Amino acid sequence: MTLTTIADDSLFQPLILPHGPKLKNRLALAPLTNTQSHGDGTLSDDEYRWLTMRAAGGFGLVKTCAIAVEERGRGYPGQLGAWNDKHISGLTRLAEGVKAHDALACAQLSHSGPRALLNRIGVVAEPGNEVRELSNEDIATLIQRFVDAAQRCEKAGFDGVELHAAHGFLPAQFLSPDINTRTDNWGGDLTNRARFIREILEQIRSATRTDFQLGLRLSPERFGLRMAEILELAQTIMVSGVIDWLDMSLWDVFKHPEEIEFADKALLSWFAELDRGQTRLGAAGNILSRGAALWTCRGFVPLL
Ligand SMILES: Cc1cc2nc3c(=O)[nH]c(=O)nc-3n(C[C@H](O)[C@H](O)[C@H](O)COP(=O)(O)O)c2cc1C
Repeated sequence: MTLTTIADDSLFQPLILPHGPKLKNRLALAPLTNTQSHGDGTLSDDEYRWLTMRAAGGFGLVKTCAIAVEERGRGYPGQLGAWNDKHISGLTRLAEGVKAHDALACAQLSHSGPRALLNRIGVVAEPGNEVRELSNEDIATLIQRFVDAAQRCEKAGFDGVELHAAHGFLPAQFLSPDINTRTDNWGGDLTNRARFIREILEQIRSATRTDFQLGLRLSPERFGLRMAEILELAQTIMVSGVIDWLDMSLWDVFKHPEEIEFADKALLSWFAELDRGQTRLGAAGNILSRGAALWTCRGFVPLL
């Protein structure tokens, strides 16, 4: 870890994003599922307090927990939802409450796919709800669910949304050559396996206002992923300009990759060295001190 002087204020420099308002500093609250909202996905006072207190505490960007874009795509009880217009009033209150503290409000959009723990959320597994290969029509419907949820969040006043494509949830499952054994346009080579994510991002981008912010969260390893492929995907998406930020969920920013071929330097360094275009790069995991935050910030973000 780099030693820093007390006078170093790098973490508190504003950060300009390609779309929409800037962050007042380099600190973002990672999305944290806290199971505090209501069973039907509407906002609770506890969840409102938890997130607005983080905004009051000074984060430049506050991300919600993973918000389910489809009722049967929930992974946890008490998870926020954006699958229905009934969620908009709570989301509006939340976005207003976060933005009142001069923080950007971002809704993380998620679908748990086969990780949707149906028994935990009270949905009975019925024909049509079991784990099976998706038809082309199912995939088109799912992409539309993400777009509809993004538009609800836009209507609610959020500055933007982030696609949760990490941790083995549905978008991440498409990416995995172990899990995704399809032989059509949605499986096979990396371009095909990444198509679900690309389609969601591109369709949200064209369905929302021009200053709406769009982020992507990826995991670099585990969950059947290949480091080389995630590096290639990160690079392609960042230079394409479709997203404002890529957030790498590393669990430990100092960790070295599991794959021997990449093990000689930290996960963080591999991603920091990619060409980012105008896209901002963030990371989460074990950043527990000012020194660790500065080390991460220096590695990732050229200070303006
Ligand atoms: C209780 C808990 C809930 C989480 N929920 C989410 C989530 O909803 N979406 C997500 O992308 N990551 C989620 N994560 C991962 C965190 O965003 C973060 O990447 C991870 O906790 C590592 O960062 P930390 O060391 O600062 O905690 C969760 C982690 C924990 C411990």
